[in-house]
This record gives sequence, structure tokens and C-alpha cells, in this order.
Amino acid sequence: MQELAGKTAFVTGAASGIGFALSRTFAEIGMKVMLADIETDALTAAVESLRDFRPNVRGVQCDVADPASVERAAKASYEAFGNVHVVCNNAGVGGGSGIDTISLDTWRWVIDVNLMGVLHGIGTFLPHIRAHGEGGHIVNTASMAGMNSGLGFSAYSASKFAVVNMSEGLAKQLAPLGIGVTVLCPGFVRTRIWESGRNRPERYGPTQIPDPASAAGKLVARLTELGQAGLDPTDVAAQVLAAIRENELYVFTHPGADWRAELEERFAAILAAMDKTASRQGL
Ligand SMILES: NC(=O)c1ccc[n+]([C@@H]2O[C@H](COP(=O)([O-])OP(=O)(O)OC[C@H]3O[C@@H](n4cnc5c(N)ncnc54)[C@H](O)[C@@H]3O)[C@@H](O)[C@H]2O)c1
Repeated sequence: MQELAGKTAFVTGAASGIGFALSRTFAEIGMKVMLADIETDALTAAVESLRDFRPNVRGVQCDVADPASVERAAKASYEAFGNVHVVCNNAGVGGGSGIDTISLDTWRWVIDVNLMGVLHGIGTFLPHIRAHGEGGHIVNTASMAGMNSGLGFSAYSASKFAVVNMSEGLAKQLAPLGIGVTVLCPGFVRTRIWESGRNRPERYGPTQIPDPASAAGKLVARLTELGQAGLDPTDVAAQVLAAIRENELYVFTHPGADWRAELEERFAAILAAMDKTASRQGL
């Protein structure tokens, strides 16, 4: 979508980090923006900090894990701004890693937010975008954790792999309809993702805090350090904006050699396994 000024964006996880940066970037180019988030106080503060863009910026409380909540938030957007054109399914939570240390409740929470939340956004807004026919673009936030298994066996990686796959499939199906899809795969970004437990609903039980001396605890400490030294979310938002305008499927925010090497290693292992089968079969 080249012409974005005057169009409307709906952004989840908009009270913090990447979602907030996306919202501010959209507002700055003259879009109407509905910020959606589960954390009410942070959402109110985020909307207030964008008061210069009133009345084009609003907020709505929304739990992306609950399809009815996403439907209500969508209705609030239509009432406030009319048709929605850009949907950023961005809300996400981190939930630890390890072979046998992740509780089933944590798996459910991470999958419900990171995967089902994206699905609920697509299911809610796609019929609306198709019906209004004014064009649209869907941005799904995955992660580099959706491209390689650097985090090991983890609910987070599993959810993000699924978001990459869903986005690739959706892009193929929506291209003939003129609706774009972008999957955002950031490396480390300076946000509050490492404090995700702050808004973990009670139904998923208490947040698991790994023993700092354990392998999982050391990994969390290292990742938090890398996150704090990460990219500014505003840079990520600028890359997403360019991808919407150019209708690009992938946004890799960190094209550096280390990230590339991990991908090459994965793809090489997959191709080598296929070649081995082929040679066994004499192909
Ligand atoms: N920060 C990074 O290094 C990094 C890297 C790769 C991918 N990501 C992804 O970026 C996205 C945004 O995360 P962030 O880094 O800005 O973290 P963040 O914690 O700063 O922001 C996430 C926002 O999502 C909201 N949220 C959590 N659960 C929700 C729910 N059920 N419904 C609605 N909103 C909910 C939080 O309240 C918060 O405002 C996530 O999908 C995350 O997985 C982040």
C-alpha cells in the first residue's frame, strides 16, 4: 500500500516496545491508529503520549488470546475511524525455554498470545478488509526465533515458527486480492519483552522464574542483556513501514553475519538430509 495517510491501522501490543513504535510511526505519517493492548494503565499512558495526534489516535483494551475481545476491539475501531486497512498482529510474550522446565500452562499462554492472537487478528479483520475493497496489509510479528532454533526447545520458538509459516501461506492466498502480508522477524530489540510475566493472566498460573544458577536462568539473563543492548523499536517500525509500502513479505531487522550464519546452517542441514535420502534411493 503506497498511500497510507488518511488510512487506519490497528496495532496489538501497542502499549509498549515495537507495537508502540509502530503506532507512533503510523500516526506521524497521518494515519488513524487504534492502539490495542491487554495492559490498561500502560495503554492509557501510551495513548496520552500521542496526544499531539488527537483525534486520530485512540486506545482499546484487548486480550488477543480471546477472539471475542479482538472482535470487540475491532468494532471499537470501526466506530472510531471507519474502515481499517493495516492490521499489525504484534502482541507477544516470552515464556522461557528448556527441555523439561516449561509448564503446560506456560506453553498454553505463549501459544494463545503469540500464535492464536495472530490468528484471531486475521480472522477478525480479513473479512472486513476483503469486504471494503480499499486495499489492506497484514503485518504479523514473528521473530528470528521463528527462523532458527537458537533458543532451543521452547514455546516461544514454536509459536514464532508457526507465525512465519502462516504468514507465508497467507501471502500466497491474498496476493490475487491485492492484500499484502509482511512477517516481521526481529533480532534483539530494546523493549519490555523480558518482563512479559507482568501481564500474564491468572488463568495460566504463576510466572515461572528459573533459578538464576540453572541453564534456563543463565539463558534468560544472557537474553535480557542482549535485549537491553538491542535495536531501537523506532528503527524496526521504519522498516515495517517501508515493507508495507513496497509490499514485502519478510522484514529481517538484523541482517548481520551471525543471524545469517544460523539460517545458512539450518538450511544446509535440511538440504543435506534431502540429498542423503536421494542418494540412498539412487536418485
Ligand atoms: N524485543 C525483542 O527483542 C523481540 C524480538 C523478536 C520478536 N519480538 C516480538 O515483538 C512483539 C512485541 O514485543 P516487544 O518486544 O515490543 O515487547 P513488549 O513487552 O515491550 O510489548 C509487548 C506488548 O504486548 C502486550 N500484550 C501481552 N499480552 C497481550 C495480550 N494477551 N493481548 C494484547 N496485548 C498483549 C503487552 O502488554 C505489551 O504492551 C512480540 O510479538 C515479540 O515476540 C520482540
